[in-house]
Amino acid sequence: MNFELKTLSLAAAAAHKCDLLVVLVPEGFLPGSDVLSTMVAHALKQGDLEVKPGKLLQCYAPAGVAARRVVLLGCGAADAHAVRQAMQALAPSFKLPSVKRVALVFGTSAQRGAIGAAVRAVADGSYVYTATKTKAEPRALLRVTLGVPDAGAAQPEFATATAVAAGVEFAREWANRPANHATPTLVANAAKTLAKYPGVQCQVLGPTEVAKLGMGAFLAVAQGSDQPLRLVELRYNGAARTQAPVVLVGKGITFDTGGISLKPAAEMDEMKFDMGGAASVLGVFRALAELRPAINVVGLIPACENMPDGKAVKPGDVVTSMSGQTIEILNTDAEGRLVLCDALTYAARFKPAAVVDIATLTGACVVALGGLRSGLFASDDLLAAQLLSAGDAALDPCWRMPLDDEYAEGLKSNFADMANVAGRAGGSITAAKFLQRFVGDTPWAHLDIAGTAWKGGAAKGATGRPVGLLVHYLLERATVSTVKPKQKTRSRKSVA
Ligand code: BES
Ligand code: MN
Ligand code: ZN
Repeated sequence: MNFELKTLSLAAAAAHKCDLLVVLVPEGFLPGSDVLSTMVAHALKQGDLEVKPGKLLQCYAPAGVAARRVVLLGCGAADAHAVRQAMQALAPSFKLPSVKRVALVFGTSAQRGAIGAAVRAVADGSYVYTATKTKAEPRALLRVTLGVPDAGAAQPEFATATAVAAGVEFAREWANRPANHATPTLVANAAKTLAKYPGVQCQVLGPTEVAKLGMGAFLAVAQGSDQPLRLVELRYNGAARTQAPVVLVGKGITFDTGGISLKPAAEMDEMKFDMGGAASVLGVFRALAELRPAINVVGLIPACENMPDGKAVKPGDVVTSMSGQTIEILNTDAEGRLVLCDALTYAARFKPAAVVDIATLTGACVVALGGLRSGLFASDDLLAAQLLSAGDAALDPCWRMPLDDEYAEGLKSNFADMANVAGRAGGSITAAKFLQRFVGDTPWAHLDIAGTAWKGGAAKGATGRPVGLLVHYLLERATVSTVKPKQKTRSRKSVA
């Protein structure tokens, strides 16, 4: 699917040939003398159209308009939220086989974030999962034109949005694939395909190397599975080597049965989404490859299955993490923190400016925040503020949760330095406190995406969150952090 941005008046939009033309109608719409303006003005006057987001009026091949279908779409204040809400009403149209070319036209100037929201809505609405279906029609939509009053001014927002859309789609696709089609090896191979883009490199470690590193916690989770574990290391270099990277760590449990602490059968299939954090890291790299911002990023994905087996780790087993700290595994279903803790220890070798882990970590987080906001835990107020505002800007919001030291008391163990679970109370917080023991002094944040990475029920499927949040956060860093060369006179070499 191709997105293009064009300067387009409503008069010009009327002459634009496409299968579906969407005219966004904001509050205080100022009609011109063109045919679309006249239609909108009449419809508003007659009460057949309202400007409230999502209210719409469908027309077919109206005289003087080149498009076959025309939708007049109320978009309220025309800000990002309102545009997204409005576009949701149209989502089914973007999957129609007869709709190959779509144009969206913003009559008057669009508010900040509105173009991004529109691009994301079309991309999300037109995505179809086909990988394991023999009869599914692939996406019909080929070309999407965004018509705005000033294409030059809208270009940066448009570029970010199309890159995020590509990243979200990559994340959705990998998270959606069933566990037998998205094994740790296949997920690692997906990461390797990203290395074809300039500036992106990928290295994959297997069980032998991971054992050599002393990642006893990660190994313990993987030992009950016939699928060999993978540790994926992605790198994106857009800035000088001297610039400290941001390290993203994504939980990559390709299937979580719970292990010996087996989960109940109901909805266990959804545990194929337990690599949503990993998928979001892949999606971020897909977006970075397109945007090429001046920043360095490392992506780490500890990937394995959590299975019950004769060789599986047992409740009460004590393992030694890469950090040297010992862990009593009281519940084998609290496996995410075990794979993450070793990856977090490993992250220190990149001397990061910040570490952000992303994980479908706790059911408790779903109870606390539902599906709207991801849980944000941060040791650093600045990092927390940056992630919160990135989430708002990307319409991919999160909510800060506490990290008081007292919450860690339940992690005490009689047989190891710590247990991997505390009581039921505050389960998402005690999980975060566990992770915090492996990050040292580096500014660190943890995003619990258990409620936001996928939807259950009839619309079951991955959301691609929080790719938008993370990309916005990284781009913001790229604009504020200017690279300081060591000597003023030396010019920076371009990367070969
Ligand atoms: N992957 C799950 C968390 C999860 C559960 C995400 C349901 C989304 C929906 C995680 O590995 C897990 O099983 N966590 C346990 C932790 C508990 C044993 C302390 C949980 O949340 O029940
Ligand atoms: Mn689990
Ligand atoms: Zn899990």
